Amino acid sequence: MQVPTLSGRTAVITGATGGIGQTIARQFARQGASVVLVGRNQVKLERIVKELGPRGRPEPKTHAAVCFDVCEANGWKSLVENTQIDILINCAGETQQSLLLRTSEESIQHLLDLNLRSVVWGCKTVGKQMVARRRKGGCIINISSLLAYRAVIGTSIYAAAKAGQIGLTTALSQEFGRHGIRVNAIVPGYIDTAMTKDLDKKELIKRIPLGRFGTPGEVAHAALFLAKNNYANNCILHLDGGLSAV
Ligand SMILES: NC(=O)c1ccc[n+]([C@@H]2O[C@H](COP(=O)([O-])OP(=O)(O)OC[C@H]3O[C@@H](n4cnc5c(N)ncnc54)[C@H](OP(=O)(O)O)[C@@H]3O)[C@@H](O)[C@H]2O)c1
Repeated sequence: MQVPTLSGRTAVITGATGGIGQTIARQFARQGASVVLVGRNQVKLERIVKELGPRGRPEPKTHAAVCFDVCEANGWKSLVENTQIDILINCAGETQQSLLLRTSEESIQHLLDLNLRSVVWGCKTVGKQMVARRRKGGCIINISSLLAYRAVIGTSIYAAAKAGQIGLTTALSQEFGRHGIRVNAIVPGYIDTAMTKDLDKKELIKRIPLGRFGTPGEVAHAALFLAKNNYANNCILHLDGGLSAV
């Protein structure tokens, strides 16, 4: 069997300045993909793009930085006007640490916009381009969260949005699958990034069967698997050191 390669493929990664997104971008670039990094901080994005070239040399023609807020539909529209996308990884996100009864309407709206509505926009806009190009092998990967399945106090809206991503993934695996476009999700547990740096790690790892947080590299490895395995569709890949079993 021929091992699928990422060379000649363009992967768009949102949240590409963050711990997980940045690592996915590096691993996809290393495997030959052209990567388009999406975030809100142009300076950070460009620094990462420069580091993606061989031996730190910038490769502006191979990789690109596109600065926009993923909650804005217009950002997605201009992205697809300028880029032919083979792989979309929806990784931008923000967690929550507040009880529902103490969360403002504005925060609720923001958490839903960022963690769910932006993913719907991304899938709709990029999915439309993939279908129109009639190019088989398009792939969308949504980065959900174990909190979609397991209760943690103070994360209700985030959990609801991440659960929404699972429903979206499953529904689209059928709608888009008919066009040869695969839609999958990764469901990480606790991963060592800025998002988890303020958590009580010592206490949390006692509950994780493997006794540690995951690394961004391990999430990126799962994303590579989903991007390369041409039979993976509606694959909801749990990556949590066994925490989902406890
Ligand atoms: N770390 C974990 O334990 C864990 C567990 C389960 C799921 N996840 C999910 O994994 C994904 C990545 O998390 P991470 O740990 O890498 O977090 P992170 O380091 O905090 O990165 C979050 C990323 O999201 C981007 N972002 C936030 N709001 C945005 C917006 N409106 N438009 C565009 N980009 C935006 C940030 O970019 P800028 O602020 O630079 O624009 C940043 O690149 C998230 O979806 C998160 O929910 C993480």
